[in-house]
Amino acid sequence: MTYPTKTFNLPVLEGLSEKQIQVHLALYEGYVKHTNLIVEKINALKASDADGNAYLIAELRRRFGFEFDGIRMHEYYFEQFEGGATASDINSALAAAVAQKYENQGLEAHIREVAGSRGIGWVVAYADPRGNTLHTVFVNDHELGQLAGLPVMLALDLWEHAFMVDYVPAEKKNYIDAFFANLNWSVVEKRFEDAMKMSAA
Ligand SMILES: [Fe+2]
Repeated sequence: MTYPTKTFNLPVLEGLSEKQIQVHLALYEGYVKHTNLIVEKINALKASDADGNAYLIAELRRRFGFEFDGIRMHEYYFEQFEGGATASDINSALAAAVAQKYENQGLEAHIREVAGSRGIGWVVAYADPRGNTLHTVFVNDHELGQLAGLPVMLALDLWEHAFMVDYVPAEKKNYIDAFFANLNWSVVEKRFEDAMKMSAA
């Protein structure tokens, strides 16, 4: 199989220009292309001389997580803007889990706190069906440090390519404001509910 490049039904975004989004989508498309290329090259190397190409194949397999996670994380990211911004639902299952874990701080403020970590990477919030909770972590490289097996609920891209068409690095906070101004919380709430249902099944 080959991975398709998804198209996202994005509204006009507040504080994120069309050019910024185009640049970022082009980067996403690169991850799709290279994920498919790695699979293709592994298959070709195996078919021609599996033993002789063992080192090459192993190195390509090591690179797979970088390309694949680049696809999937950007799909999580752009899908969060589809449908336009909505307020979070105070009666959602997510709101109840957030109240238990982050108490009065709330999820957005907690994500903003984690986003203040120095360095580039992602803030990733996960549903944890086994623990019946959620986790918010800072992931530097998207192929390293992700929480094993936990469905991603919210992905905030803090790599500079995500905002430097519109903002300079010192304005990262303005980009984070724009991210939340455009966030469709119902997408996040549905991801959380779906993850929790999967665990109950
Ligand atoms: Fe990105």
